[in-house]
Amino acid sequence: MLKRKIVIDTDPGIDDTIALTVAINSGLNIELVTTVFGNVNLEQTTINALRILEFLGKDIPVAKGVPRALFFDPGIDGSHVHGVDGLGGYPMPYPKTKVVDQVAVEAIKDLIEKSEENITLVALGALTNIALFIKIYPHLLDKIEEIVVMGGSLGAGNVNSAAEFNTFKDPHAAKIVFDSSVKVTVFGLDVTRFCLVSSQKLEENKNKSKVSSMAREILKGYIEENNELMMHDSAPIAYLVHPEIFDIEDKYIDVSTDERAPGALVSGFWTKEKDKKPNVRFAVNVDSKKFEEWLLANLV
Ligand code: BDR
Ligand code: CA
Repeated sequence: MLKRKIVIDTDPGIDDTIALTVAINSGLNIELVTTVFGNVNLEQTTINALRILEFLGKDIPVAKGVPRALFFDPGIDGSHVHGVDGLGGYPMPYPKTKVVDQVAVEAIKDLIEKSEENITLVALGALTNIALFIKIYPHLLDKIEEIVVMGGSLGAGNVNSAAEFNTFKDPHAAKIVFDSSVKVTVFGLDVTRFCLVSSQKLEENKNKSKVSSMAREILKGYIEENNELMMHDSAPIAYLVHPEIFDIEDKYIDVSTDERAPGALVSGFWTKEKDKKPNVRFAVNVDSKKFEEWLLANLV
């Protein structure tokens, strides 16, 4: 499992930062990081991706993705949670490295074409880059092992009563990905609400290393308001390392592109739709204790 070749598409983002950190510290084979607009604008998420990799001492190419959704512009970002800089005000040094000279979709294409093995795509933000790849290079889809997504919610949303942030930010892209021919595994709020880390344990760990200190500081605003912190973007990473801690079901899930409920997920059809074949694998349960143990062990 750890040998899979992985691309992480991300919009850092404080929980994206934690996810990138635990992905690297878990020994995942990350070949490329691509950036997308989301928690803050694309310029800032891209600088943040470079900052995080340099901070962690990892030389992984970063390709800049798209600055906006395919069709829908909700006009909000996540800066009220992640800070205007996307890193909660944490003073991570500015990067010396630069992005590669290909945009995300082209960098993914090149990687796939040059690779003898299939590639796994991990999406921690809006699905715009991945949807574009699917539409532009359909002949390469059989070289994608799996698309692992943090996004969506079958229960309550976190942007409004119906939608989760990442599917809300680009509902059309999410629909393209969910309905693609690729194996898609989705970690929505239904399970990521239980992917928790205790603020007290982060506090106890903070002097162990520069990484544990960064984790405590970057999550500071979140810690002030919560005893248990939801580590949404680390859920797909945990799955790649420890799939056995999740229960996953095959489901048919539609993504609403209706302007009244953009990005809301709908399942459990009982009308003429009921015979629809499952289009995704959807995580329904996690062993929260094992998740937290794994996360803390990799935040040093
Ligand atoms: C998702 O929204 C973003 O703010 C987080 O980084 C995460 O990807 C959770 O709904
Ligand atoms: Ca994210």
